Amino acid sequence: MKKLIIIGGHGNGTVAASTVEDLNKRKKEWEIIGFLNDFEESIYHYPVLGPISKESVNKYINDFNIFFLYTLITPKFREKSLNKLLDLKIPKEKFATVIHPTAVVSEFSKIGYGCVIQPLVSVGPGVEIDNFVQIFAQSLIGHDARIKDYGYVANNACVGAKVILEEGAYLGTNCSLLENIVIGKWAFVGMGSVVIKHVSNYTKVVGNPTREIGMIDQA
Ligand SMILES: CC(C)(COP(=O)(O)OP(=O)(O)OC[C@H]1O[C@@H](n2cnc3c(N)ncnc32)[C@H](O)[C@@H]1OP(=O)(O)O)[C@@H](O)C(=O)NCCC(=O)NCCS
Repeated sequence: MKKLIIIGGHGNGTVAASTVEDLNKRKKEWEIIGFLNDFEESIYHYPVLGPISKESVNKYINDFNIFFLYTLITPKFREKSLNKLLDLKIPKEKFATVIHPTAVVSEFSKIGYGCVIQPLVSVGPGVEIDNFVQIFAQSLIGHDARIKDYGYVANNACVGAKVILEEGAYLGTNCSLLENIVIGKWAFVGMGSVVIKHVSNYTKVVGNPTREIGMIDQA
């Protein structure tokens, strides 16, 4: 059985753990050996193996059977969370991708490494999902859409066909996107939004139809 270390904690990290355990109910595939976390000593029944640091990673990196999931990417802490990931210098082949057993993923789609696909997500044909993408429960990704690295799709989002989410784009809960539009780099779409036109890089939009309410810090 492959072993997994989740980098993160309560929230995205525990949601990922839950998906892994649901996968294990069907077929024992992963043993979660613990979390890396800077603040907690244990998370549910899992131990915290150390802080999120290169030193912690080095203890496990040479074990061919151990893989990692990084669950800390958000637009709010973009620089901090990305730097943390890059500082760990984990080779890409050491990142797992986990897909909940109830997700329906077209065989004509592609999903990269370090991704978490949650319960009841639907991924249509021709969809390309790059790396470190998190898609939460019940979201629908329409055919031929593209989600680039670090994309974050909260639950119940409906992404129209051929939509492109540029690097780090964030979709809040329950938002709907018209087909063929582009959501810019690290742009933020608030919950419940209806997006009918392109959203520029680093822009925060909300409402139906969306309006701009601010920018994401580009520092
Ligand atoms: C957009 C968001 C981050 C708030 O951003 P913010 O910069 O703090 O915005 P504010 O709360 O100051 O609100 C600014 C304006 O936008 C409006 N607004 C904020 N979020 C909105 C939303 N989702 N839909 C419609 N209007 C919204 C506010 O009413 C306010 O309007 P006003 O200026 O006319 O009074 C937040 O409301 C949101 O939608 N977060 C996503 C939550 C989510 O989906 N989480 C994932 C699941 S856990």
